[in-house]
Amino acid sequence: MQNKNTPWQSYWKDTSFDTFGARFSDENPIAGVLAKEISSINFLNSTPQSLLDLGCGRGEHFRWLRHVFPSLEGKTLKITGVDAAVPDTKIDANTQIYTDNFESLINTRRSQEAFDIVFALFAAEYGNGRKLVRALNNVAKKSMDCLFLMHTPDSVISAKSKISLNFYELLLDKATTTALRILKKSHDIKAFEMYVLGKINSIVNLNRPELMEDMQLVVQRLQQLFSAVDLRKKVAHAHALIEYFEQLKMHVLRLEQQLKAAKNSDSLVDELVKQNYEIKVDKCLQNQFGEVGRLLHFVLVPRI
Ligand SMILES: C[S@@+](CC[C@H](N)C(=O)[O-])C[C@H]1O[C@@H](n2cnc3c(N)ncnc32)[C@H](O)[C@@H]1O
Repeated sequence: MQNKNTPWQSYWKDTSFDTFGARFSDENPIAGVLAKEISSINFLNSTPQSLLDLGCGRGEHFRWLRHVFPSLEGKTLKITGVDAAVPDTKIDANTQIYTDNFESLINTRRSQEAFDIVFALFAAEYGNGRKLVRALNNVAKKSMDCLFLMHTPDSVISAKSKISLNFYELLLDKATTTALRILKKSHDIKAFEMYVLGKINSIVNLNRPELMEDMQLVVQRLQQLFSAVDLRKKVAHAHALIEYFEQLKMHVLRLEQQLKAAKNSDSLVDELVKQNYEIKVDKCLQNQFGEVGRLLHFVLVPRI
């Protein structure tokens, strides 16, 4: 059975489908607007020493986090990232990633760290709100500022996900599944190439310009994969094509998860209200492209 973390495991392994990656900096249209909001928030501790990052991925935004949460002079902000789909990684003396589920935080608890800030970038809404609040309580050694930017149904990211999903549903239909099955058995790359060309033409003929961005990415990659066919390495070549289509299927699962998660932020906020947590900020962030997501700031005072 498909594990719900599998699409993310492949994402962080592939490196080819990165949300922000190395491009995550103040120039990034989301990072910029988020950094501005963070600079206007009054945190319990204005020079935090320890930060917990929920659903951190490979932590490509850690450098940026250290920039927006300046710590005491001469000290480096300690960052503990958790992600169910990333292997345990000690990056340096101040930076550790744990393979952990943020709805339980079992591994993270072993670190005995006293976190000042809990941060989540497009991650908290993927979990169950009630379990997440309970897990944070279990890990809290003192009051912690929690700051989550969450996907929303009307954001520019959700709009893009819907278009991408449309494209991939057309590309990866039943006929493609059959063509891949035949390729796996026959290793007949030419026949598969003819099939894919026909499929791409049929999508182009739909005359839907919004689908062309995803189409171009796929066509570029397929051109690489179909070119330089070495007939002596037909089997390896067929496997590379099959693997690429597997990656695309994982991408579809991530898009579906993202759109589902975008509807989930209300349940986390409802849980916090039910448990009488004080919500300090709950607002929609906008940038030049439109709605970016929902920013939530609350203080988690540990409860026994
Ligand atoms: C949309 S990605 C965001 C990653 C990163 N914060 C970023 O912005 O680039 C969501 C991440 O949350 C992780 N995730 C989702 N649900 C989780 C859970 N319950 N426990 C731990 N990690 C989870 C996924 O594995 C994935 O890496």
